Amino acid sequence: MARKKITVVGAGNVGATTAQRLAEKEIGDVVLVDIVQDMPQGKALDILESGPVYGYDTRITGTNGYEETRDSDIVVVTSGVARKPGMSRDDLLKINAGIVKSVIENIIKTSPDTILIVVSNPLDAMTYVVHKVSRFPKHRIIGMAGVLDAARFSTFIAMELNVSVENIHAFVLGGHGDTMVPSTRYTTVAGVSVEELIPKARLEAIVKRTRDGGAEIVNLLKTGSAFYAPSAAVVDMVEAIVKDKKKILPCAALCEGEYGINGLFVGVPVKLGAKGIEQIFEIKLNAEESAALKRSADAVKTLCEQVDKLL
Ligand code: NAI
Ligand code: 2OP
Repeated sequence: MARKKITVVGAGNVGATTAQRLAEKEIGDVVLVDIVQDMPQGKALDILESGPVYGYDTRITGTNGYEETRDSDIVVVTSGVARKPGMSRDDLLKINAGIVKSVIENIIKTSPDTILIVVSNPLDAMTYVVHKVSRFPKHRIIGMAGVLDAARFSTFIAMELNVSVENIHAFVLGGHGDTMVPSTRYTTVAGVSVEELIPKARLEAIVKRTRDGGAEIVNLLKTGSAFYAPSAAVVDMVEAIVKDKKKILPCAALCEGEYGINGLFVGVPVKLGAKGIEQIFEIKLNAEESAALKRSADAVKTLCEQVDKLL
């Protein structure tokens, strides 16, 4: 079987760790791109030289241009500025919109048939930027946030109950921001709703910690934002596509009527396979969940209106 070609744009914390994880799992050959001279080449060589010790044959190339990325099967966009303490994801909008636009203009020339996975923040708005600039069909534009948010939710539930994270299926909807909607009703532990296992007040505290999960790491790191869990989340999505797993994951997808949302990228459960997003699942929500999702979509809409003014 021919190897897949996966480009990662942005060789910073998330991008380089994503490249490392992809190499270690031999999911495909990797091209790492950054504007900083020599840095992606150095990181790529360093990851390549880990192969003999770790036991992988992944080819990994670093570059400051796009020729090496030609005909990528998947492109992961992590380029941009990360959050610093006191900075919200939304503060990043203006600067990252310009960066993401220029990256996508290059990618559509060299890999017009690729599947794009967007990571740069503010995530839902940057996914919208990618859509505006690329004009790719909606199944080939996917935002990464829900897998990360659900992983954080699962982590905190596993800690609370002292059970394996593998027993937990966390369910998160909405935008990647303060209005995200972790659903306690649909989150299960070994098939049992978490609402039956954790008292309401504790569960509310866990939901709050999940919503604030990004800021918690920013405040601890002080010089940047999370990258180990985010890169793990990206790799889960890439693997689902490369292996055509038909895996159901929460991703930012263009909604056209689903959940009453139109023309916005919002976190919803999707099926990821070889074509990218192969289906959006519309789960029945109660009044409270619907209202929370609407609030979240409204927040995303405000950011996209800002994007429309910029681009
Ligand atoms: P970082 O600062 O470590 O890396 C960003 C890299 O992008 C830098 O190496 C920089 O030189 C590069 N870059 C800037 N402009 C570029 C351009 N035009 N072309 C190519 N490369 C360019 O930041 P980190 O931690 O890797 O985060 C990257 C982005 O991902 C940030 O916007 C961050 O907020 C976001 N993020 C999103 C998450 C999500 O759940 N969606 C989770 C974690 C981070
Ligand atoms: C996070 O949630 C910064 O969005 C990033 O960690």
